[in-house]
Amino acid sequence: MCARSHIAPKRLVAPGPTAEELDLIFTAAAQAPDHGNIQPWRFILVPQEKRAALGQAFTHALQERDANASETELNIAYEKAFRAPCLILAVVNQGPTEPEIPYHERQIALGCAIQNMLLMAHTLSIGSGITSGQAMNSRFVREVFRLTPNEEAMCCLTFGQVITYKSKRKRSNVSEIVSSME
Ligand SMILES: Cc1cc2nc3c(=O)[nH]c(=O)nc-3n(C[C@H](O)[C@H](O)[C@H](O)COP(=O)(O)O)c2cc1C
Repeated sequence: MCARSHIAPKRLVAPGPTAEELDLIFTAAAQAPDHGNIQPWRFILVPQEKRAALGQAFTHALQERDANASETELNIAYEKAFRAPCLILAVVNQGPTEPEIPYHERQIALGCAIQNMLLMAHTLSIGSGITSGQAMNSRFVREVFRLTPNEEAMCCLTFGQVITYKSKRKRSNVSEIVSSME
């Protein structure tokens, strides 16, 4: 559990998780805490045949943000949709629910679900990463994923076999993150 680290999507290669492994990863997500039992998040898989459509959405989002984006920058944006054999969008629902649960709690619930997924992947010897970026809630990305007005795209999760590891980020010492109430 303490050995997990982020693997950038470009360093994740085929084979991606098998159907059984993916099922375990999503089952782990479903164990996350959920205040009010409102199920405030969901995940959307991006199959290979949809990568081009996502790449175009990334490209259009960049063009809208920066009308002067170069051909190279547009190609990089497009190519991001093709990284990693398994690509998943994490979505949170910020609309009304019964009972009403604050938005920050829903985001925490999604974060718990995601961490469960990363740790399950790690247990299965599958590399994983989280990325976001400015395109995430552009109208083009929202459209291609058919998000409802109440939904917000939070980040992308990527899974696959690791081709190269980078040195692990220094973790905080326990004393830096914990104190006793005075
Ligand atoms: C919601 C979220 C979005 C992130 N988006 C990016 C991103 O777009 N690009 C990136 O390089 N790292 C991003 N990160 C950070 C990495 O996922 C990773 O946590 C970081 O590189 C530290 O590595 P570690 O997880 O091994 O400590 C994001 C993290 C979170 C929680």
